[in-house]
Amino acid sequence: MANDFNTPFQFNEEADLEISLRPKNFSDFVGQAELLEHLEISVKAAKERNENLDHILLYGPPGLGKTTLAYIMANELGVNIHTTTGPAMERKKDIAAILSNLEEKDILFIDEIHRLNRSVEETLYPAMEDYALDIIIGQGPSAKTLRLDIPKFTLIGATTRAGMLTSPLRDRFGIINRIDFYDPEDLARIVERDAHVLNIRVEHEAALEISKRSRGTPRIAIRILKRIRDYAQIKGDGTVKLDITLTALEKLNIDKMGLDEIDKRLLRLIIEKYAGGPVGIETLAIALSEAKETIEDIYEPYLIQTGFLKRTRNGRVATDFAKEYLGYPADGSGALF
Ligand SMILES: Nc1ncnc2c1ncn2[C@@H]1O[C@H](COP(=O)(O)OP(=O)(O)OP(=O)(O)O)[C@@H](O)[C@H]1O
Ligand SMILES: [Mg+2]
Repeated sequence: MANDFNTPFQFNEEADLEISLRPKNFSDFVGQAELLEHLEISVKAAKERNENLDHILLYGPPGLGKTTLAYIMANELGVNIHTTTGPAMERKKDIAAILSNLEEKDILFIDEIHRLNRSVEETLYPAMEDYALDIIIGQGPSAKTLRLDIPKFTLIGATTRAGMLTSPLRDRFGIINRIDFYDPEDLARIVERDAHVLNIRVEHEAALEISKRSRGTPRIAIRILKRIRDYAQIKGDGTVKLDITLTALEKLNIDKMGLDEIDKRLLRLIIEKYAGGPVGIETLAIALSEAKETIEDIYEPYLIQTGFLKRTRNGRVATDFAKEYLGYPADGSGALF
């Protein structure tokens, strides 16, 4: 049976829960120590100088806390945050309206910033660089450009696809940071923190087991925790203990390393049809009927991080570890035992 636990994308019904679980300050944010230090220093420095914070680009797989960090920065700076997404702004006037409504030092958070259309993106250039909005008045040869000042604001852009940003846009960010998967200990702390907020009792070993199966992703960990809570309530005494967690994980068909069907199909394909690789990403995308970008942004990063997959100059290679994990002999042949 396939399950959708592992999709790092947010389900609609998760939104309210995520808001209530979102850490509000740097000090509540677990993990990502290096990234956090960079951001905290920038925030502190901007505050001391009483200036707007530099524009920040956050990139990395979904569900790792990009939106959360944008809200934390607004909170720590004591400024308003306005949020929108790349595809939501269709025309220049959409972004112009948002920009002209900002107050000094406000944060404008644009999610999926790689999906801005060209005219919206071009409106952003002078806004980011000179805090100016160029408005064209009139039409034809008599048209004039009027330059309006806008408040000194901070743009925080989030994307799963830093590589899809045009270089003029990317170059206008003063700070560019990657957010990475969480290690199991940090993720276990997030599970414990969320359990506390949700009034769920959870043992550390159970939290650790959940986090090992959550693809290093808080959003997935929270989802699994909620399901196991139901098990603990009905089959146990309400506490999420290790034994009930293991039983529930088994029943829910949640893989030991957090792999989902697509991960496994991808690895099996490389092993069985391409003798373990290397095989090009385009070929894999076609064979799996998935977009190349989806494979590159969602599946590959986790598979590479966990040592199932290697990216080489000639294409993708399934590791011996992947072969062993999926039950193939580790001699490069695709035949089963
Ligand atoms: N470091 C953290 N500590 C505690 N909770 C976290 C942390 N990072 C993320 N979360 C929780 O994980 C959930 C998802 O985080 P968030 O929405 O910020 O991810 P995202 O990177 O913006 O995802 P997307 O790319 O889908 O927009 C939220 O409920 C948030 O509270
Ligand atoms: Mg987000």
